[in-house]
Order: sequence, then C-alpha cells, then structure tokens
Amino acid sequence: MCGISGVVSFHPIGDRLYEGVRHLEYRGYDSCGVAFLTDHQIEIRKDVGTVDEVDGKENIRQLSARVGIAHTRWATHGKVTRENAHPHQSCHADFAVVHNGIIANYKALRDELLRTGHQFYSETDTEVIAHLIEQHFSESGDVERAFVSALRRLQGSYALAMIATHDPERIFCARHESPLIIGAGSESNYVGSDFNAFIEYTKNTVILDDGEYGMVSKDSYSVKSLRSGEVIEKAITVVPWDSELSRKGGYPHYMLKEIHEQPQAVRSALNIDAEEIGAVADVLAQARRVYLLGVGTTYYVALLGQYLFANLAVLDVAAVSSDEFRYLVKTDSQSLVLAISQSGETYDTVMSLRHAKERGAQTAAIVNVMGSSIARMVDRVILQGSGPEVCVVSTKAALVQMLLLTRLALALGEQRGVLSAAARQRHEAALAALPEEIETIVNEKSGLIRAAAYRHAHMQNWLFLGRGIYYPIALEAALKMKEVTYVHAEGMPGGFLKHGTLSLVDHNLYTLVVVPPTTAAELYAMTMSSVEEVKARGGFVLGFAFDGEEEIFDDRVTLRATHELTAPFLPLVCAQLFAYFTATALKRNIDKPRSLAKSVTVA
Ligand code: F6R
Repeated sequence: MCGISGVVSFHPIGDRLYEGVRHLEYRGYDSCGVAFLTDHQIEIRKDVGTVDEVDGKENIRQLSARVGIAHTRWATHGKVTRENAHPHQSCHADFAVVHNGIIANYKALRDELLRTGHQFYSETDTEVIAHLIEQHFSESGDVERAFVSALRRLQGSYALAMIATHDPERIFCARHESPLIIGAGSESNYVGSDFNAFIEYTKNTVILDDGEYGMVSKDSYSVKSLRSGEVIEKAITVVPWDSELSRKGGYPHYMLKEIHEQPQAVRSALNIDAEEIGAVADVLAQARRVYLLGVGTTYYVALLGQYLFANLAVLDVAAVSSDEFRYLVKTDSQSLVLAISQSGETYDTVMSLRHAKERGAQTAAIVNVMGSSIARMVDRVILQGSGPEVCVVSTKAALVQMLLLTRLALALGEQRGVLSAAARQRHEAALAALPEEIETIVNEKSGLIRAAAYRHAHMQNWLFLGRGIYYPIALEAALKMKEVTYVHAEGMPGGFLKHGTLSLVDHNLYTLVVVPPTTAAELYAMTMSSVEEVKARGGFVLGFAFDGEEEIFDDRVTLRATHELTAPFLPLVCAQLFAYFTATALKRNIDKPRSLAKSVTVA
C-alpha cells in the first residue's frame, strides 16, 4: 500500500528522503509528497505522479532541511489528486502527517473537528489526524501529549509519521496494524514502512509493535507505550539483506531479475535446517485440523500445499483464502493455521491469524520478511530467506514457498509413517536438482518463450488449464498474466471445461494448458482430454508440456522433467517468463503494474 519514509539528521536530508520513498514505490505510486521543517515552518511539496515525476517538479533531492517525512500513495480514500496526496497538515500548518492504513472512524472525527472550526482540504481519512493533533495541542500545549491523545482516539489501522513546528528536531511515529520501523544510523535516524526506506544507510532497525509510538531525533530515539506512556526498551534487529540485493543489477526489470534469482532462492531454501522444518511438521502432525492460509498468489501456494500434503503425507488440509477465512473457519485449540506471506504484513492474513489465535488455534507461518508482523505473531515461523522481492508481482517468493511446503509435506509424510525414509531421500535428491532445472529454463528457454509471447501478445482472452497439482500452477500462471499484462486470463481445472466454459472457445480466446509428464499417466491422459475438447471446438491451444503428443498443440514450449515431484515447478517458471515477455510486448509498467500494490496492508 502506501510507503512512508522519514529522516532526521545532522546533514541535509533531501537525497535520503527521496531515495527512501523511491525504494518504497512498490507499495504505491500514484502520488508522492514530502513535508520538512525550515525556520520553524513546515513546507509541503507534493503532487500526482511517481516519485521521480514529483521530484522533477518539486526538487525533493535538493532540500537542505534536516528533518522531513515523505510518502508515496496508493489511493484508498479519495481520488488521485494533488489535494489528496500526503503529507496532510493542520489548519495552522504546524503539524504535518503521512499515513498508511485506514482510519475507520474518520467521518465521526471529521464532523467533530468541523464543528470546532477546522477546515479540510482533502477527501482523505489521513487529514483528520493532523487536525486532531492540532486540536489536542491547543488544549495541552505539548506536542507529545497531543500526539498521544490523538492516537488514542483513532480506530482502524495506521502507520504514521508526524513533524511539528513546536518540536522541530523530532519525527513522531506510531503503528497500529500497519508496519512501521525506525532505522538507527550514525548522524541520522530514520523511519520507514520497511527497511527499503533506509537499508543503504543502516541495517539496524527497531520494529514498532501495535500500541507503541516512537520519537526520533538526529542522535537518539525512544519508544513508548501508548497506553501507559512508559519507555519500552526495544531490541535492535539487524537486517540480513544487502542493499545491493534490493537493486536491479543490470536487468531491465526487477521481475526478470527475480525470476532469474530463483535457482539461488531455491538453494537457500534447501539449506534451511531440517530441524526447523521438522519443528513445524511436528505441530502440523499434532493438530486435529490444519488450515493453509494465503491470499492472491499465496492462496494459490496454499492450494498447491493442499495437494502436496494429500499426496506426500496423506493428510487432508484445507487451503483457505485469508480474505474469506473469518467467515468460513471456526478454529479451536486443536487447529493449526499455517499462513504463507511474502511481506508478512498482508492485512487479510494478519487478521485471519489474529482471529484464529483468539479462538485458541496454534499458528505457524512461512514468511520472507524477517521481523514482519506475521513473523512475530505466530508460534513458529520459517523464514524463507529468498532475499528482497521488489517487483510488485510475486515470483521467486511464491516458488520458494511452494518448495518449503514440499519439504514440510515430506517431513510430515515420514513422521506419519506414510513415506519411507528411502522415499523421502529420493524426493529430497529430486529437490536438490531443482535449482539447475530452473537455470536450464531461464537460460535455454527464455528465447523461445519470448518468441511465443510476442506471437500471441495480441490475444486479449486466455484460459489457463491444469489438473491435479497442475491446477494451482495454472491459477498462479493466470494471475501472473493478468497482473502484469492486464490481459484477461482465467485459471481453472481442466474438468471445468465441460461444465460451461467450453461455450467461450472461439478465435477470440486462446487456451494455455499446463500438461504433466506422461509418467503421471492418469493426470496426463485427463489433461490431454481437455486439450482435445478445446481443439474439437476449433480453439487454439498453447501447451507447456514435457514429453508426449506433439502435434495436437498449436504452439508449444517443451520441457524436460526429471522427477514427478519437481515437474510442476518448471511450467510455473515458464509461465512467469511468458507473462513477463507478453508485458514487455505490450509495453506495460512491469515492476509496478496498475492497480496492484505489493504489501496490501488495508482491508
Ligand atoms: C501476486 C501478488 C499478490 C500477493 C498477495 C499476498 O503477484 O503479489 O497476490 O501474493 O497480496 O501478499 P503477501 O505474500 O505479501 O502476503
């Protein structure tokens, strides 16, 4: 969603404020702005557009101020206009606020503030915060007290940062259900939605928890409890990632870079200690009911996990989309909820976990971002160690999550006595070969896939079909396609065709079929029957296929499978490349496709 960056320093902050917010653009990028303090006055520069566009007009990098906050927006309340861009300030321009989240009671607060004479300039929920602080300041004359009193009146979710003319050397910040961290540097301190805001300057972070607020000055910071006002001693978390890893490194887009990083990301995931995997397998084995939780891509990862647990561990688990979890699932103390999340901050997943915990469930998670909300709220966490994923569209993180679910299913299968130690070893040997198999695809198949993508880039409607474990692969492949190309792509099980969907087959619709290897004989035969059904109606079929029948496809990308366990991952990599190259053919905004934000921290 939105990105927040703040810097307070002995030195001019223009560059760092700009860099901070630019590296958070994957969280939102429809408008951008900064507020900074000079001569006890707050100046605001903001507009519609990307960080670079706004910097081009407003010269953010040239700022000589030493205290400032910045924001990049993904509109939720109010249209994309200059007025609605953050920061927002109070009537007398003595408080400026940037915010991520949604203030649920903003209408009531706004009405109350209007009655006391405040004037509003935007349609946002955020603006009420600035006025509320000003209102409380008029009563107490103390910035910290005003900040705290205002926070106590907010309902909903927020991560926010504030500067004030009456306290010109500090940034105030707070969080509730939306992430915010402090970066402890030398001669400068920072606040940010995540560490991409300042990783170039410091890896030392202090992670705020719900109900805490921070005050950050150029040479110190402190964190207090919102409820009691007591100082909280916070541990420093050292971010294990290098700033270089977060940069593009010669690739035209992060998406392509991250697709190419998959062999390495898989190797790292294979190196995660077997004991760590075993510990989560233990809790899975003890639970009466297991739920796999994710949303968007991670829901498809969960769905794939459902097949893996059934096939390898003979365990029925339920994959549930986290946006629906609360309405569907009644967990209890015998339930285990395993959440899957790249960012570790996705609102629906956080809320579902909270709901499950309140009902006494055990919780675990596979998460990429260390120190994230989900990583900290669950009983057990596997940190997937895939390195930063900057492109809004998830590729390497999802593939690694699938791999980790495979490792979990293998461990569980052995524990449950349904998989022999020898079989598990054979499967693990297959997993060990996966990085090279992916390397072969990105190195040797990219050209062919690119050519196919350019050949078919005119097509506006796609069906993506798969059966069995290839069904969640087809769903994820279709999601990649629509996210990054804006082309309509619908994933479904092959079996759905004859229950209505065949009526769509004509020359305006292409079908991409994810075909299993012939060694999965039944699945292969059933999948090919879906291909026949489309062909019989004159439909065009592109096959991502291994061995087997060649002639039936109108176009085909051929893969080499070495093991049934790892085979499904290979067409997924092809589908990522296919979506990427279709998007380049259509000249889309690949790393920041429209209407999509990386870390969806609002409902
Ligand atoms: C897809 C995508 C989204 C996320 C979803 C969950 O490419 O990026 O569908 O997968 O918003 O996000 P995380 O994994 O951060 O919880």
